[in-house]
Amino acid sequence: MRPQLLDSSRVVFDFVRDVQFAGKKVGVVPTMGALHAGHLSLARAARATCDIVVVTIFVNPTQFAPHEDLSRYPRTLEQDIELLAGEKVDVVFAPDSAEIYPPGFSTYVQPGSVSESWEGQYRPGHFRGVTTVVLKLFQMVPAQTAVFGRKDYQQAQVIQQMVRDLNLPVAIQVEETVRDSDGLALSSRNRYLTPEQRSRALAIPAAWQHVQREFNHGITDTSILESEMRQILEDRQVDRIDYAACVHPETLERVSIAAPNTVVLLAAHVGTTRLIDNATIGNATP
Ligand code: PAF
Repeated sequence: MRPQLLDSSRVVFDFVRDVQFAGKKVGVVPTMGALHAGHLSLARAARATCDIVVVTIFVNPTQFAPHEDLSRYPRTLEQDIELLAGEKVDVVFAPDSAEIYPPGFSTYVQPGSVSESWEGQYRPGHFRGVTTVVLKLFQMVPAQTAVFGRKDYQQAQVIQQMVRDLNLPVAIQVEETVRDSDGLALSSRNRYLTPEQRSRALAIPAAWQHVQREFNHGITDTSILESEMRQILEDRQVDRIDYAACVHPETLERVSIAAPNTVVLLAAHVGTTRLIDNATIGNATP
């Protein structure tokens, strides 16, 4: 069945409160649309534990810097709704910009220290926009559970810190990254890649897979692991590396000696497309 399409925050709030009053558990999956199998796996995860699933679709302007790809970000609402029907999603909440940021809007979340490094450094203001919109979406769709993807590893950490720090009454569930069969993490931005760029983008999973193998062979010095990752990215001709780092899984501070739970974070540009990926170092792929 086609999900119900709502665009009013008042209507979606009343809907959620009504079903919760009737004893139902609600799960929300915040997205910016242009859905792919990764998003659908989040909806499926919510479907598995919740009675009612709400997917939000909103391309949030405050998380894009002026030079970033807000205007070219794909908008595919009709197709998204069809895909979500296949996952038995109950409601799609797709507000317009004025519903989220009415005239005079001027209050923002100041995210914590985990937001400052990596994406925070390369995309100043990004996490301020993400946390602000996510907090607003949690207010409008006061679900018991919210599901996010691990592909945006730092985002998931920043949101979990916000939820703890602000005592938000929502449980955060983080689901594994979905990859194409060649290892490339699914992303709405992959559609910008030409076939030649896509094949160069495979340097990104190749880099962290190499690090996992090296770690399994006993190499734990992260300066060696990081420089080998850079070498792979350069040899396979990504156009620019923003970072390729071994970090603590929660603080995201760089570690000097890798442990099984160390996380590898990568961001690189291929053509005009910026891609990010991550992996836990001790979870080697077969
Ligand atoms: O991950 C995303 O798609 C966005 O950052 C989110 C969480 C929907 C906030 O706009």
